[in-house]
Formats: sequence, structure tokens, C-alpha cells
Amino acid sequence: MDCSLCNPSSIPKPTEGVSGTIKVPMNTTPPTIAVIAGSTREGRFSDQAAAWVAAELVKHGATAEVIDLRDYDMPFFNESVSPAMLTTPYTHEAVVRFTAKIKSADAFVMVAPEYNHSTTAVLKNALDWVYREWNQKPVAFVSYGSVSGSRAVEHLRLIAVELQMAPIRNAVHISGDKYFGMRGGSMTAAELFASLQKPVDGMIEQLLWWTHALKAARG
Ligand SMILES: Cc1cc2nc3c(=O)[nH]c(=O)nc-3n(C[C@H](O)[C@H](O)[C@H](O)COP(=O)(O)O)c2cc1C
Repeated sequence: MDCSLCNPSSIPKPTEGVSGTIKVPMNTTPPTIAVIAGSTREGRFSDQAAAWVAAELVKHGATAEVIDLRDYDMPFFNESVSPAMLTTPYTHEAVVRFTAKIKSADAFVMVAPEYNHSTTAVLKNALDWVYREWNQKPVAFVSYGSVSGSRAVEHLRLIAVELQMAPIRNAVHISGDKYFGMRGGSMTAAELFASLQKPVDGMIEQLLWWTHALKAARG
């Protein structure tokens, strides 16, 4: 079977294929990338995955910070004006802090558990509270679940576009076999993460390209 695209190494990098002449001025300041742990329940896995991705980002030269939604006790969105139309900033203390945190980041990795074939309510609510501060920034995804959390990520990609973000192609999708096996004791979380080195490197490589490109474009 001819399957040139089955081999990840044959997939063009963002700098290839579209135009060999595209040159992005690379900002020398390390970009700040926020990793959002997408669940808050007792016994969650998203905090472990977020800490791992943050450490991998640092290895690639980025400044990384984990955003734990447990630290931002935001109500379900209940304002009369949507954040896209906002002229007077919201005043809820946790929303103000969360918005400032999003503003300070150049890019995001969303750790996306799959709840009922979609993203978690707590992550969607956090996305809904902010608008301009998400705009024109790239986002990558790490997911897990029976079909690798891919349904949650596909929904998040659509949401990200409406938030004027740039969802990047490469993601880390942890298969159900591996993920639920690890939860059942077949391997440790460290062993699971070690098995994901290639996809996480590929994801970070793409994310950094877009981070530098969009940071330069935002000025
Ligand atoms: C409310 C709820 C709904 C879930 N729905 C799905 C689902 O649709 N697909 C799936 O693969 N796993 C589903 N799961 C299992 C999750 O993949 C698993 O519990 C995972 O650990 C959740 O991420 P977390 O530990 O970070 O919360 C669901 C779990 C919960 C709590």
C-alpha cells in the first residue's frame, strides 16, 4: 500500500511545503507557554500530564507554567455581555486573575480529558470567560481516553478557531490501551510519558514555530 503520509517523518514541517521562502523572525526571548490542566476532579490525571508537558517545554527552551483550573474558582459564565463585546472588564476576582494569566502567555497546551465525547465542562467554561486574551495565539493539545481523547480535541479545535486561536496539527493522543492500562497498574505514569517522547517532541516543535511566528506578527 502506498502510504507516504503514514510515516510521520514524511509529513512536511510548517516551514516546508507551503513556501520554502517563508522566514519567520525568531524572537530570542523564550516564549511563555501556559499548560492548562483540563480537569479538576478528585483523582484526575490532567495535573500529571500538564506537569510532564511543562517539563518537556522547558527542555525545548520555553518558559512553561501550569494553569490549574482548581486555582480559579470561576462561576459558570453568567454575564450579560460576552467577552468578545466587552468594554468594561469583568470584576469576579478569579476571572480577573485568570484573564491576566491568559494575557501573559504567548501560547497554550490544553490537556484535554474526554468527558462524554467532548471536552470537560470546566475547561469549556474557562474558555468562555475570556476572548481577546486568547486571540492570535497558538494552541496544542494532549489528550487521553478510549479513542485517545480525540473527540474532545476535535471539539476544542473548533472552539479555538472561534476564539481566533491557531490550533496546531500535531498533538499527543494517549491511546485507551496505554492510558487505561496505566491507570490499572500495567505501567507507571513516568513509563507512559517516556513512551510518548516522539509525539511530544513533534508537537512542541510545531507549537514553538507558531508561537514565534504569531508573537512576531502580534508585534
Ligand atoms: C463524566 C465523565 C465522562 C467520561 N466520558 C468519557 C468519554 O466519553 N470517552 C472516554 O474515552 N472516556 C471518558 N471518561 C473516562 C475518562 O477518560 C477518564 O476518567 C479520565 O481519567 C478523565 O480525565 P481526568 O482523570 O483528568 O479527569 C469519562 C469520565 C468522566 C468522569
